[in-house]
Amino acid sequence: MSVPFFRPSISAAEIDEVVACLKSGWLTTGPRTKEFEAQFAKSVGAKHAIALNSCTAALHLALEAVGVKRGDLVVVPTMTFAATAEVVRYFEATPVLVDCERDSMCIDAKALRRTMEALLAGQKVAGLKAPYGPVKAIIPMHYGGQMVDVDAVHEVAKAFNVPVIEDAAHTLPAAYRSSPQAPWRKVGTTADITCFSFYANKCITTGEGGMVVTQDDTWADRMRIMSLHGISRDAWKRFTNDGSWYYEIEAPGFKYNLTDIASSVGLHQLKRADALWAERSALAKKYIERLSKVPGLELPRELDNRQHSWHLFSMRLVPQAWNIDRAQFIDALKKQGITCSVHWMPLHLHPYYRRTYGYSEGLFPVAEALWPQLVSLPIFPGMTQAELSEVCAAIEGLSKTHGR
Ligand SMILES: Cc1ncc(COP(=O)(O)O)c(C=O)c1O
Repeated sequence: MSVPFFRPSISAAEIDEVVACLKSGWLTTGPRTKEFEAQFAKSVGAKHAIALNSCTAALHLALEAVGVKRGDLVVVPTMTFAATAEVVRYFEATPVLVDCERDSMCIDAKALRRTMEALLAGQKVAGLKAPYGPVKAIIPMHYGGQMVDVDAVHEVAKAFNVPVIEDAAHTLPAAYRSSPQAPWRKVGTTADITCFSFYANKCITTGEGGMVVTQDDTWADRMRIMSLHGISRDAWKRFTNDGSWYYEIEAPGFKYNLTDIASSVGLHQLKRADALWAERSALAKKYIERLSKVPGLELPRELDNRQHSWHLFSMRLVPQAWNIDRAQFIDALKKQGITCSVHWMPLHLHPYYRRTYGYSEGLFPVAEALWPQLVSLPIFPGMTQAELSEVCAAIEGLSKTHGR
């Protein structure tokens, strides 16, 4: 049996809605996208939700809305996907990289504070040359669906008066609370602006797609306008009877709108979000139950006061416990038909960031120590017990042949 890293879960409702959309005569941004935005805003508890064609677009628009300009600084974790930092480069601004926490693998708020203090004092900061530009935003990312320590990050952001834009590409639904006595806060309500991804393997999908949410009217207006060519108002309606052929361009915007075909899928994925999460969560529990008996593995766990979305099941190989390395481990599983992945090589080790900023090994020790150990196992709604068992049996087998 082969087990893919991911298989999307598409029900008849998504398919029927796409067919209805195709027959409706309205394919691009329109009524279904407006409905998707309204439902999404309601489900996460945000005032505004703007549907976009990716999370990368959401991050870009968020930075534009908060006023990032050439030469500014934006703080991002080094342990993240390309998109979180590349959007900063779109402005010729500089991503300031920060190490991650060992447990959550999200940005380390203590390291974040040290970096912010050093920037303010004009002291040396890895990868940067003084004099520094102003810090215009912090982008924490919820690794694999485990939420960052929201309170700790916000404490720093508040102290330095910088907005927080969450990269929640992995995170729907998920939640955080300050303590067992405090109320749960859903992702989408814990930042100034939150960016979601609906890429094919994400918690809910539209094939490609994203959503940006905020409580702030001014930022929402700006992001909406900039998402469709910088055209003043309800640009999508200009070909409808309700709209007008007349429009004005406020700024040179982008082409980031989501189609109604994609929103047709999104509307029904959103309705299923809790059920899809329950499946991921049950699979994660099963993995933990079975693999905790295998020596040499460090398994992910839901931290206290968090509700994990389980987008990823990213475990670690304890190096001393194996006579093969991570690449050999993944290859061995691949030979048995099981596809795994790695999230991620830290950004500062990639050629672009080394070349452009002079980043090198030794700067972010936690991320560097973890990344050679990381293996993301298949986890997706619809994964069968037999598939999960196949993955676990293959790992148990490897432990027997290659464990020390
Ligand atoms: C952490 C993170 N941020 C942002 C993105 C970008 O999402 P999208 O593909 O929707 O632009 C991804 C995509 O995998 C991601 O993993």
